[in-house]
Amino acid sequence: MSDQAGWGIRGQNVCLRAICRDDLESLRRFVNDPEVMQYSNVFQPINDYQQEKWFEQISSATDSVWFAIDDVRREEPQLIGTCCLVGIDWVGRAAELRIRIGDREAWGQRLGSEACHHLITYGFQDLNLERIWLRVFASNARAIRMYEGLGFQVEGRLRRTITIKGVAEDLILMGLLRMEWESGAAGEGRP
Ligand SMILES: CC(C)(COP(=O)(O)OP(=O)(O)OC[C@H]1O[C@@H](n2cnc3c(N)ncnc32)[C@H](O)[C@@H]1OP(=O)(O)O)[C@@H](O)C(=O)NCCC(=O)NCCS
Repeated sequence: MSDQAGWGIRGQNVCLRAICRDDLESLRRFVNDPEVMQYSNVFQPINDYQQEKWFEQISSATDSVWFAIDDVRREEPQLIGTCCLVGIDWVGRAAELRIRIGDREAWGQRLGSEACHHLITYGFQDLNLERIWLRVFASNARAIRMYEGLGFQVEGRLRRTITIKGVAEDLILMGLLRMEWESGAAGEGRP
């Protein structure tokens, strides 16, 4: 656990905070788990050098904001994954949301919904975004259900975009507008 655990956007069950060097080993364990990665890309294990390069890249990027997600329900906060807004268009005021809970034991406990809720609020309120969008595989029922609960609407479908474990996957594009979020249309998924 990082020294900075607990610092950041503190919610009831999760805290979004800066990713620190101390987190890298756990994060590498997450991305080297094929069961976790099947929801994002073709599996390709990474080594400590690649992880370090990634850390340098996200630490200096000006078009993305990354967070570690800590489960703060226990006395000792525990790192369970990451979420981010990437490809931030500061003029067009749009960004892509991504989330990965790498600790499989934490799945299905509404921690992803809560983390996204805080990230979306940060995107609209602090970054002054107008639109947040995302990509999700059509087979990822849990993620789609979560995004719908948060108010995201399906905006498109890219057919057979990637092949994971021999199965051609469609990619669903979803989007959430600031006005929808503010009007409470996105209320269902809020913690
Ligand atoms: C997708 C992910 C972020 C969801 O977070 P989570 O904490 O596991 O999900 P939640 O507990 O918040 O559940 C979200 C919704 O999905 C539902 N759900 C849970 N498991 C489900 C399943 N196997 N199938 C369908 N729906 C499911 C929940 O009931 C909940 O819906 P509800 O609010 O209407 O009850 C997380 O599981 C994860 O990171 N998975 C691996 C990587 C990934 O898929 N990332 C997203 C890529 S786009």
